[in-house]
Amino acid sequence: MSFQGEPPVRFIDFHRSPDRRGYFERQRSGISYDPALHRWIIDSVSLATDVLGDPRFLTADYEGVCAHMAKAGKPVENLALAYANIPLCHDGERHRTLRRSMSEHLAAKRKQMLPELGALVANHISPFGRPGKVEVMAEVLAPLVDDFMGRLIEAVIGDAKALAALSPAFDHLMGERKMLQTDAEIAKVRATIQAGLPADRQDAEGRHLALLMLGRDPLLGTLGESFRHVFEKESGKPLAGIEFPVMPPETGVPYIERLASEDCRLAGVEIVAGARLRILLQAYCYCEEEREHLRIFGVGSHACLGRLLALDLWRELTRQLVCLPTRVVFERAAPRTTDYVFTCPQSLHIEVLHDVR
Ligand code: HEM
Repeated sequence: MSFQGEPPVRFIDFHRSPDRRGYFERQRSGISYDPALHRWIIDSVSLATDVLGDPRFLTADYEGVCAHMAKAGKPVENLALAYANIPLCHDGERHRTLRRSMSEHLAAKRKQMLPELGALVANHISPFGRPGKVEVMAEVLAPLVDDFMGRLIEAVIGDAKALAALSPAFDHLMGERKMLQTDAEIAKVRATIQAGLPADRQDAEGRHLALLMLGRDPLLGTLGESFRHVFEKESGKPLAGIEFPVMPPETGVPYIERLASEDCRLAGVEIVAGARLRILLQAYCYCEEEREHLRIFGVGSHACLGRLLALDLWRELTRQLVCLPTRVVFERAAPRTTDYVFTCPQSLHIEVLHDVR
């Protein structure tokens, strides 16, 4: 799609383009077809909400890919275990069962973790409290998120290459070779999770793997992008003077996809059964109506089960940051350019200075 003579938008990596906020101010079309991605693109909040609440649009099919690979003699058993346990890979009864089990697990963990959250955050934010150069992703946010997720899944994954395989596992455009590589990395994650579980609880392995895949990069990406945004905007200001928004101002989950289960009409266009729709969740993040911002966590039966925990962490982090006697000067940030699913800084460089007011 293009607008008033501008070049067409490259939706494949639009989610990390520096001008993405501007796109939503200038050119929301509601729905348009992207021939490069072979998908319908939904970019307005009202249509996104309609589609996500409409039972004719199903979550995209991941398990079919595993069956195809097995038939071709290239089984991807680790990805298959993950997809079998990820609620948003399913609809109907299977989805309800998985969702219930995860929701109970997360509620119990939240109860356990809330009293410890202040100490967990304090353990990781010390680089913000003393003068010096800091690479926020590597020195603060990745260790913090890995510690946080480690408590949820009872295992800490320290292998950076294996962690980098979590995001591609959701990429529908991944080729066979990439899928086999991703599967081999996920095998290492599985092994660490298995090792952390007692013999009588090995059945939790699939659920913990699924939680890590659903939680780690969305959380890291949301915190990283939100800090990049705030520090760039408020560069040089004392932390105590920054009014961090109640909701993170950026999301690590820039879009989600759905499949049309039948031929239908949507906002005046014909959608055929099997067509894929990409719903741009950044539309919720960047719109003016604040009540829409919560929808970065999804809408309807698949809405995020980690929302409360993610917001607990954002609010505790920002609450502690404003108590520090320092200023943050933004230096530079680079996006994670290998990621076609989530939005996350690869690096975020700042300088911390004394607050000399
Ligand atoms: C700020 C961080 C996060 C964001 C922005 C986010 C966003 C989302 C979104 C948009 C969905 C809906 C996907 C769809 O409808 O296709 C979703 C689903 C889900 N999220 Fe999150 N998420 C975050 C963190 C987490 C965390 C930390 C966990 C748990 C550890 C988690 C667990 C889940 C689960 C289990 C689902 C699937 C629900 C279902 O299919 O019924 N999320 N998330």
